[in-house]
Amino acid sequence: MKIAIIGTGYVGLVTGTCFAETGNEVICVDIDSAKVSRMQNGEIPIYEPGLKVLFDRNIEEGRLKFTTSLKEGIKDAEIIFLALPTPPGEDGSADLKYILGVAQDLGPILENYVVIVDKSTVPVGTAEKVRLAIQKNTTVQFDVVSNPEFLREGVAVDDFMKPERVVVGTTSERAKRVIENLYAPLVRQGNPVIFMDERSAEMTKYAANSFLAMKITFMNEIANLCEKVGANVDDIRKGIGTDSRIGKRFLFAGIGYGGSCFPKDVQALAKTADDYGYDFKTLKSIMAVNGVQKTKLIPILEDYFNGELEGKTIAVWGLAFKPYTDDIRDAPALENIRKLISAGANVTVYDPEAMENVKRIFPQITYCHTAYAALDEADALMIFTEWPQFRTPDFEKMSRLLKEKVIFDGRNLYELNLMREQGFNYFSIGRDSVHFTEFA
Ligand code: UDX
Repeated sequence: MKIAIIGTGYVGLVTGTCFAETGNEVICVDIDSAKVSRMQNGEIPIYEPGLKVLFDRNIEEGRLKFTTSLKEGIKDAEIIFLALPTPPGEDGSADLKYILGVAQDLGPILENYVVIVDKSTVPVGTAEKVRLAIQKNTTVQFDVVSNPEFLREGVAVDDFMKPERVVVGTTSERAKRVIENLYAPLVRQGNPVIFMDERSAEMTKYAANSFLAMKITFMNEIANLCEKVGANVDDIRKGIGTDSRIGKRFLFAGIGYGGSCFPKDVQALAKTADDYGYDFKTLKSIMAVNGVQKTKLIPILEDYFNGELEGKTIAVWGLAFKPYTDDIRDAPALENIRKLISAGANVTVYDPEAMENVKRIFPQITYCHTAYAALDEADALMIFTEWPQFRTPDFEKMSRLLKEKVIFDGRNLYELNLMREQGFNYFSIGRDSVHFTEFA
């Protein structure tokens, strides 16, 4: 099939590359001409494990191309994917200007029947708006389908190539057949393509992300209560996660969820509820709890240093909102660093992938080439992202480098017993602190 992908962000680029990999002819369209020419020269603009190999192969074999021209991109396309940003507007609702802008432009240049697919996460009713925006300017037949993307950054290629399910919102039989063919190679193991109407598909994406955000947030509140009653959230997680009705995943307490999806989508769904006059209280408390959770270690750090962070050096491990990505959108680390800086602390950081992105926001802090270099002469270590290399560090070396043996761990990387053995003061989430008396 001939496919056009409009927008080459995370979702667009993964979608385009993976559909080229399954044998389609894909043209990606983006208005950013510098980015397009970099891609034309074989340079991949994002870090996503496993993507580069597919990207290179499909360019090489001529199935993956790039252009800045919408007209050229959609010529002869049987399917057009809209993978455009939907940033939160001032009131939290998803801003549709990019999607509706492209929809307006598509009308006059359509030549044959085409299926137009909303891949971006868009509020309920957007497929209809897109349809009207196109229809204004054309007499050519087309269908607009909602096909939300569930890929996770860091494992996006795998999620795309082996989806647990594909959700497709369309009431058109013709569009349904086209989409069924397109996804056939990806669901051969029997995972379902679930068809429904457009509005339900749009809602499914928000419901999925909000539910997961709720699951994490619920666990974060259980963790907060564990700290008060002297229970251990790790044990609670194992205890409840083994109940198949609850499930093991997304029960890890920490310093809150971040990333490009959960914060934005929970907020957008809450806004939709408001617009329809429904007071969605669960969503509002998820947002409130997560907001506080992100920096909950800061007051503990301040207490530890008797309210004096001025002039202290705080080492930070992890900037990305989660491991295996360089994405720092809504990363808890950012809010924490902001607070450390405003309290007068010096900050030395290490992250395997995300430092370049953070440099633009905090040019004044120190970026180190290794995790250990960040510890040199630091008064404390804070951990914000659970990169695997932080899980089993050389504690002896850490002891030598740190001025004081104290760790504030927002991702619960270490067992409490290990910290006791190693002689570290240790503060984590939803568990007792390890606090040697000489520092108390
Ligand atoms: C998410 C959804 O999983 C995906 O289906 C959707 O399409 C886009 O949003 P992503 O944002 O890439 O994907 O990351 P995910 O792995 O879901 O993690 C989201 C956040 O939750 C991260 O900040 C992570 O640290 C946090 N998290 C996750 C926890 O705090 N605890 C957990 O148990 C799991």
